[in-house]
Amino acid sequence: MPKKTSSGKSGALAKRYPCYLANRPIQPNADLEVLDKYSGKVATRTAFVDAKTVDQAIAAAFAAREAMAAFTPDRRRDVLEHCVRRFGERAEELALALCIEAGKPIHDARGEVTRLIDTFRIAAAEATRIEGETVELQISQRTRGYRGMVKRVPIGVCSFITPFNFPLNLVAHKVAPAIAAGCPFVLKPAAKTPVGALIIGEVLAETDLPEGAFSILACSNEDAAALTEDDRIALLSFTGGLVGWDLKARAGRKQVTLELGGNAACIVDADPGLPLDDVVERLVFGAYYQSGQSCISVQHILAHRDVYEPLRRKLKARVGKLVMGDPRDENTFIGPVIDEAAARRIEGWVEAARKGGAKRLAGGPREGNMLPATLMEHVPAGSDLYRQEVFGPVACLQAFDDFDAALDTVNASDFGLQAGVFTARLDHAMRAWDRLEVGGVVVGDVPSFRVDNMPYGGVKQSGLGREGVKYAIEDMTEPRLLVIRDAPR
Ligand code: SIN
Repeated sequence: MPKKTSSGKSGALAKRYPCYLANRPIQPNADLEVLDKYSGKVATRTAFVDAKTVDQAIAAAFAAREAMAAFTPDRRRDVLEHCVRRFGERAEELALALCIEAGKPIHDARGEVTRLIDTFRIAAAEATRIEGETVELQISQRTRGYRGMVKRVPIGVCSFITPFNFPLNLVAHKVAPAIAAGCPFVLKPAAKTPVGALIIGEVLAETDLPEGAFSILACSNEDAAALTEDDRIALLSFTGGLVGWDLKARAGRKQVTLELGGNAACIVDADPGLPLDDVVERLVFGAYYQSGQSCISVQHILAHRDVYEPLRRKLKARVGKLVMGDPRDENTFIGPVIDEAAARRIEGWVEAARKGGAKRLAGGPREGNMLPATLMEHVPAGSDLYRQEVFGPVACLQAFDDFDAALDTVNASDFGLQAGVFTARLDHAMRAWDRLEVGGVVVGDVPSFRVDNMPYGGVKQSGLGREGVKYAIEDMTEPRLLVIRDAPR
C-alpha cells in the first residue's frame, strides 16, 4: 500500500534527480548531466553512483529475497496498481521528460507513457495468477500413494540494464514483472536517458515494498560490472546492443535474457485489393516513428513487383513531407537521434550505400543530430546500411517476384526479432508464420507493432528469451516441487 506521495510537478525536469539505493533516495556528490537532445543543452542532472554503491544495492537485494518472496501477491498487485495510478496522474510530466531526455516527439512520448501504464496494469493482473500445477505421480505400483504439486517461486535477485530508446517502458518491462514475481532487483538505466527510470524509482519509493527490494542507479558501465558478474544475482536481463552477448559470456551461472535489436523487414505482397494508402501510412509509422530508434523499426520494405511502382511513388511523396523539428512541437514527426555520433554513423552508412549504387528517394543532409526521414532503394546487400541495425530514420525499399524468395531474403538477415507481412492470401500468411526465422510475425501490419502482453524477443543475433509481462515472470520464477506420501491406510 502507498506510504507517501510527492507532488510530481509538470512542465520541466527537476533540478537534480536522486538515485535509489535499497528503496531510498540517495544524493551522492557525483553528477550525471542529462542533455536536452534537441537543444544540446544540459536539461538536468542526476546522482551518479560508484561501484561500491552498486555492491551495496546487490547486498540489500540479496538480503531482501525472503521478504520479497513473502510479500504476498495481493500486496505486489497493490504496489503495481499504485504505480498505475501515479503514472496516470503524472502522465504529462513523464511525456515531457521523455521528450527532453530522449528527444522523443511529444506524440510518441505520450504513447510511451500509455504503454508504461499498460505494462504495470498487466503486471498487476499477473501478480495474482502465478499458478502451479499438480503432477500425477501414481504411474506404477511403486509410486502408489504419492502426490506431486509444483508452485512457482521467485528466482532471486535480478539485475537489469536498460537502453535509451524507451526510457520508461523498457524499464517497466523489467521492473513490473520483477515486482509481480517477488524478485528484488537492481537496475541501471541508460546514461543518456536516466530520468524516466528515476521517476519510476520515485513512485516505487512511495510504496511499502520490503526494504532492499529495489535500487535504481545511474552509474558507468565499468562500475556496473557486478550487475553482470556477481554470483548473488540469479538473473540478468539486458536490452541494448550486441554487447549483450559479451555480458552473457561474463554472466557465470545466472539466467540471461537479451533483447538486442534487429533490422526488421516488412513484405508487401501482390494483391490488387491491397489498401495501398493504409499500407503506406503503417510503413511510414513503422520506419520513422521516434526517428527509427526502435528495435522493431521497419528497415527493409520488400514489395512485390506488381505493387512496387505505386508503393514507391506514394512512399516517396509521404516520407518527403514528414515534419522534422522540435520534439515538443505537436506537428513534429522526426526529432533528433540520440546524439551526433549516431547521426554521423547513419549518415556514413547512407553515403557508403550510395557510393555502392544505392539511390536516395527521400532524405537530405544531416544537421547535428537531426537526420531527415530517408528512403533508399537498390541498397547493396553487403553494405552496412543493409546488414546492420540502422536504429535511425532510414528504410530500404526492394522488389521481389516470388513470395518464398522474399521470405528467404528476410531470413538471410543475421537478426530475427519481428517481421511484418501485408498479404490477402491466407496461405502466404501461414507460410510466413511457418518459415520466417523471427520471434514474431505480424500479418496485416508492420513489425513495429507491439502490445505489452505479447511475447517479445528474438532469435539469432536479436537475443535470447522473451519479455512481455507473463513471459518475463516465467523467467523470474522457477518451479518448486512438493512430493507428499500418503500415510499407508
Ligand atoms: C525495442 O526497441 O526493443 C522495443 C520496441 C517496443 O517496445 O515497441
